[in-house]
Amino acid sequence: MCGIVSYTGKRSARQALIDGLKRIEYRGYDSAGIATHEKDTLQVIRKPGRIEVLAEEVDKVEPEGTLGIAHTRWATHGEVTEANAHPHLSNNGKFALVHNGIIENYVTIKKFLESEGYTFSSETDSEVLVNLISYHYDKEPKNDKNNRFCESIRKSLLHVEGTYGIVVICDDYPNDLVGARKSSPLILGIGKDEKILASDVSAFVKRTQDVVYLRDGEIIHVTEDDFSITTVTQKDVTAVIEKIEWKAEDAELGSFKHFMEKEIFEQPTALENAMRGHFSEDATTAIFGGLNMSAQELRQVDRIIFCACGTAWHACLTAEYLIERYARIPVEVEYASEFRYRNAPLDKNTLVFVVSQSGETLDTLAALRESQRKGYRTLAINNVVGSTIARESDGGIYQHAGPEIGVASTKAFTSQLVIVAMLALYLGRMRDMSLGDGSQFVNALKQLPEQVHQILEKSHYIQEIAQKYAHHEDFLFLGRQILFPIALEGALKLKEISYIHAEGYPAAELKHGPIALISPKCPSVFLTNQESIFNKTLANMQEVKARKGEILAIAAAGRIFPEGLVDDLIIVPPAHAALQPILATIPVQLLSYYIAVERGCDVDKPRNLAKSVTVE
Ligand code: F6R
Repeated sequence: MCGIVSYTGKRSARQALIDGLKRIEYRGYDSAGIATHEKDTLQVIRKPGRIEVLAEEVDKVEPEGTLGIAHTRWATHGEVTEANAHPHLSNNGKFALVHNGIIENYVTIKKFLESEGYTFSSETDSEVLVNLISYHYDKEPKNDKNNRFCESIRKSLLHVEGTYGIVVICDDYPNDLVGARKSSPLILGIGKDEKILASDVSAFVKRTQDVVYLRDGEIIHVTEDDFSITTVTQKDVTAVIEKIEWKAEDAELGSFKHFMEKEIFEQPTALENAMRGHFSEDATTAIFGGLNMSAQELRQVDRIIFCACGTAWHACLTAEYLIERYARIPVEVEYASEFRYRNAPLDKNTLVFVVSQSGETLDTLAALRESQRKGYRTLAINNVVGSTIARESDGGIYQHAGPEIGVASTKAFTSQLVIVAMLALYLGRMRDMSLGDGSQFVNALKQLPEQVHQILEKSHYIQEIAQKYAHHEDFLFLGRQILFPIALEGALKLKEISYIHAEGYPAAELKHGPIALISPKCPSVFLTNQESIFNKTLANMQEVKARKGEILAIAAAGRIFPEGLVDDLIIVPPAHAALQPILATIPVQLLSYYIAVERGCDVDKPRNLAKSVTVE
């Protein structure tokens, strides 16, 4: 979704801004722009389309200023046009602003400003805010130069409802950036003779790993050699400088064609990293100290609610099957966007988990806050250290999957799957899972990275199958029990990167409606289980075959299918029941990836999608 990069330092801002924008390009956007401070005026360059288009224009103009702000916009208010792109200038040209989020009461503020003589050249809510800042600046005492800039922003924000990460520059202040956040991330990177204030650490990880994460309600005033933080309610804040653990190379393509491909192939390592340090010494259970809950407290939990969006929601659905089966605790799975408004009655011994790769998804964050407001202990499974969800939760588990740049989640999903499997083991062993079963579970987990590696070694074969199926416009993904969430994930992966219509169903639901779609034009991808339910899935496959539907099956080695039933077969290693979802995921990821490549789609930047969804 929208991204912010801003720079103050000794060098020209232009290089850092364009480089930063390219590094956050993966978040999804449809226009981009920069504003620099040039000898007492602010110069704005904006372009619809890709950053390369903006960069060409910037190269022509050659701005030299050492202070600047930049933005990638994912359209919400108003179409993708140059006028709606950020940065936005105030009417008098004194202020330039970049904004992530949505100002919900912008219509009221706009009417007020219009009555004061302000005019607007865009349809955005953001242009309203920059003019409100300008309005307050004119009202501030002129002799208090130190405070005037920050104060005008603080006063403006008091009137704003909604969400924002903003950075503002003013032509009276050639070295100063002022930023603020509410439910939209903003992070300060502290480099040598330079500072970068951005919405994503990827924007500056090549330059520095020393960071300060801003919290909601904070305003930061940054110059090239200093910074200070206060709150909208005028309190001083002591900043904590932290080190980020990602390196610039983690976010680079290397020898891969796409980040999605790279991240699919990184899964053996990502799974090892997710498991590292979480096995008991006697290898009979998992341990999760970060939950900040004693065994006694965990034993008292009699219901768990999982909340998330998209792919992370599929990981939650897998958690439901696993935790109910191995720990015998009832689990409910909620879309975060529904949970936050649903006002569900919860029991006192309910534990809530939110699952979010980015840790910034607005609906998931809101679900976390709503749950905490009602007094429920709320834990997070999250991949980004220092993210808002990680900081606001009462405890949790880091995925340690490394940065995920491809918009379609792959390694972050399987690392969530392994974590929820280990959670089921941890909770199960505290209740009635035997020592023998625990130790078998741990052994299976330890073999998992190698098993994933074995599937990845078959990627060329999966690519050939993908090429055969790539011309279809409709797909069904079908799986039963613990593989049902993976059927949903397979359908989501395919539709988001190849724009093919795909639906995921529990295989037995086929005859309750979707069977009407079956024809030679609509292939079915069957995810088959290794247990007794396999035979039931076979019956569902027969129903498809009887209607001339093509069948691509994913099955464990040793599974035997009746002659002629399956058109293509991808074999995965046999595994512990709890880990079958992870092994079934790898072929569906590869299938989607290769189909999208075959159709010439922009895999890492699929249309209309954003990596981190920071609006409702
Ligand atoms: C799909 C995908 C999305 C995200 C969803 C939640 O491939 O990546 O569905 O899973 O937007 O994102 P996080 O996990 O960052 O909260």
